[in-house]
Amino acid sequence: MKIRVGVFFGGKSVEHEVSVISGLQAYNSFDRDKYDLVPIYITKDNELYTGEAVSDIANYKNIPALLHKSTRVFLMCEQGQVQLIQYPVKKIGSSVVAQIDVAFPVVHGANVEDGSLQGFLRHYNIPIAGCDVAASAVTMDKYVMKAVLKDYGIPVLDCVTMDVKEYERDEEAAYHKVEGKIAYPVIVKPVNLGSSVGIKVAKDREGLREALEYAFTFGPRVLIERAIMNLREINCAVLGDYEEAQASECEEPISSDEILSYEDKYVAGGKGGSEGMRTARRELPASLAPEKREEIRQMAVKTFQALNCSGVSRIDFMIDKDTDQVYVNEINPIPGSLAFYLWEALDKPYATLLDDMVSLALKREREEKSMMTSFDSNILQNANLSGAKGVKK
Ligand SMILES: Nc1ncnc2c1ncn2[C@@H]1O[C@H](COP(=O)(O)OP(=O)(O)O)[C@@H](O)[C@H]1O
Ligand SMILES: [Mg+2]
Repeated sequence: MKIRVGVFFGGKSVEHEVSVISGLQAYNSFDRDKYDLVPIYITKDNELYTGEAVSDIANYKNIPALLHKSTRVFLMCEQGQVQLIQYPVKKIGSSVVAQIDVAFPVVHGANVEDGSLQGFLRHYNIPIAGCDVAASAVTMDKYVMKAVLKDYGIPVLDCVTMDVKEYERDEEAAYHKVEGKIAYPVIVKPVNLGSSVGIKVAKDREGLREALEYAFTFGPRVLIERAIMNLREINCAVLGDYEEAQASECEEPISSDEILSYEDKYVAGGKGGSEGMRTARRELPASLAPEKREEIRQMAVKTFQALNCSGVSRIDFMIDKDTDQVYVNEINPIPGSLAFYLWEALDKPYATLLDDMVSLALKREREEKSMMTSFDSNILQNANLSGAKGVKK
C-alpha cells in the first residue's frame, strides 16, 4: 500500500503566499508510485481546506472562490488513524474525506514554522516530516539559536536583546545597553521574523532609535548585533537527523541592496515571485575555495545537529570579507522550496529528497514508539481530592 502523505501549507504567517508556492512545489514533486498525496491548505485564519482545487496554484488568485470549491476539514485520531473529517459533518453517511500516515509541513514563518504547527500535529500521534517542536522553536528564535550555538563553540555574532517595554521605560538606558556592548554600525532585527521583515542597519544613535522603533512595529522583542559592512552571504542545507546528516551544495544569494530583502528573495529574481526560492537570484554553486566550501558545509552539519534539527534545514552564513571569518546567521527549519535546488546541484532529485524526509519522519516515529511514555501507577486507586495538595511531593 502507498504511504499517504498530508502536505500542509499556508497558515497564519507573513510568509503565507511563499508557503503556498513551496507547499505545492513539494506536492507536485513526490513520487506518485510510492505516495498518495493529500493537499491541506491552511488559511490565514488557520482553517484547514482540502480537495482537488487547493492543489492548483492558479486558484490562489481568488481565495474566496478557492475555498468555496474546496472542503473544509478538521483532523481526528480514530483507532490510531489520522482522518480528515469534513466540516460541518454530514448528517447521513461518512464525513471522512481522507486518511494520512505522515504529516508533511511546508510552512514558513512565525506562528507555523516555529513549532506551532508541529505541536498541533504531534497531538494527533502522526509522524511529522522535518524538525520536531523543540528544534523548530529554538531555531526560529534568533537569540535562543545563538545561545545554543555559542554553547557548542559555533561562531555567531554577539548580540544584545531588548523588549519594547524595556525600551519605552528608559530609551536612554536602552541606547547605553547597546552601545556598551556593540560598536556602530549595528543591525536591529525582530527575534522571530523572517524574510528580512523589520530589519534595519543603524550607523549612529539616531539610526538606532529609528531602527528600534521600526523593528518594534513588527514584534515585541528584537536583537541588535554588529552590522558586517563588507559582507558575503552563503547558504547551505543539511539533510538528516541527530545520528547522520549531510550537507548540500552551497549557494550565494545575490542582493540588490545592503540587506537581502523580501523582494530579492521572492520577487526580483523571477516571474513575480511565482516560483518561490527556485528563481531567486543566486550563484549556485557559490564560488568558494574548496577549503572554505568544506569549512561551511561542516559547520552547517554541526549547527544542524547542535540544534537537534531533522529533515531538511537551511543554514545561512555570513562571511566578514575583512577578516574572512564565517558566522552562522540563521537556520531555517523549513527553507523556501525546501532548498531542493541545493540538492539537485549534487544530483539528488527533488523526489528523492522528499523520500528521504518521509523516511526520517518514520524513523523518528519508530524511535519514539520504543520509548516508555507511561508507567503503571496505582495513584488513582486511592485518590481523593481533599488530599490533592499533598500528592506532588
Ligand atoms: N549582522 C549583519 N550584518 C550585515 N548584514 C546583515 C546582518 N544580519 C543580517 N544581515 C542582512 O539582513 C538579511 C536578513 O537578516 P536575517 O538575519 O537573515 O533575517 P531573516 O530571518 O529576515 O532572513 C541578511 O540576509 C543579510 O543580508
Ligand atoms: Mg535570512
